[in-house]
Amino acid sequence: MYQTILTEVKAQVLHITINREDKLNALNIQTLADIKNAILNTYDDASVRGIIITGAGKKAFAAGADIAEFANFTVEEGTKLSAEGHATLRAIDNCPKPVIAAINGFALGGGNELAMSCHMRVCSENAKFGQPEVNLGIIPGYAGTQRLAQLIGKGRALELLMTADLIDAQTALNFGLVNHVVPQDQLIAKCEEIFAKIKNKAPLAISSIIRCANAYYEKRADGNNLEINEFGNFFGSEDFIEGTKAFLEKRKADFKGK
Ligand code: COA
Repeated sequence: MYQTILTEVKAQVLHITINREDKLNALNIQTLADIKNAILNTYDDASVRGIIITGAGKKAFAAGADIAEFANFTVEEGTKLSAEGHATLRAIDNCPKPVIAAINGFALGGGNELAMSCHMRVCSENAKFGQPEVNLGIIPGYAGTQRLAQLIGKGRALELLMTADLIDAQTALNFGLVNHVVPQDQLIAKCEEIFAKIKNKAPLAISSIIRCANAYYEKRADGNNLEINEFGNFFGSEDFIEGTKAFLEKRKADFKGK
């Protein structure tokens, strides 16, 4: 079904593994399409409650866009590539299920942009982050100029974007680029631990949180108003009734996503 990624659902979590280890999981056009399709296929799949994206091997999450592929691109082809990258990352950002990037090594250029489009980031101790595009005479093409500043602040972002400096896992943690740093052999387990908590919560509330948080950054929409409206809407949901009832009856809620 997919040419460049492996997919497996375990305990209601879809694991997507970028499977180009010999190229440090560089993102070519096919990889962007495969990831986008895998993510979009979960949108209406109630059996999937979360997604983990990682890279094959122990060295790289993704070392960027596939430089070999785009080396000879025209302006039109370059523009199209960027649009396709944006579309894939938007599909992740807007995914109604939480997406965690499990960063198992280099997250450079498009790799870091892919990680930043996920809702959370967990990395292994050997991870390295950066936007080295200026080394190639280009700029980030998959929203790196936007999301890096959102996550670590404009001053730090501009320094990394302009110097192409790489930062290590601990610095990424200090900057707020990642949520957790763990030994490599505990990387997926840490993501699963986060999902174990989220899976007990009401699915509609989880999707709503993603929409409201995203609204702040997109289209200059007012996330506060969206939150107010969505909060009100929950009063008509079955899960709201079940959730409040369960609390009052001192038992665990059994949410149905309705
Ligand atoms: N695009 C295409 N191929 C890539 C790649 C990329 N972004 N990053 C790595 N590769 C390939 C290498 O060409 C090499 O392929 P080969 O074995 O056929 O020669 C293979 O992956 C292994 O990479 P290599 O450079 O030999 O590993 P290394 O340990 O010496 O260096 C990096 C690791 C990450 C520092 C180095 O690969 C690198 O700088 N990659 C490009 C990072 C980048 O600029 N990304 C932004 C792109 S816009």
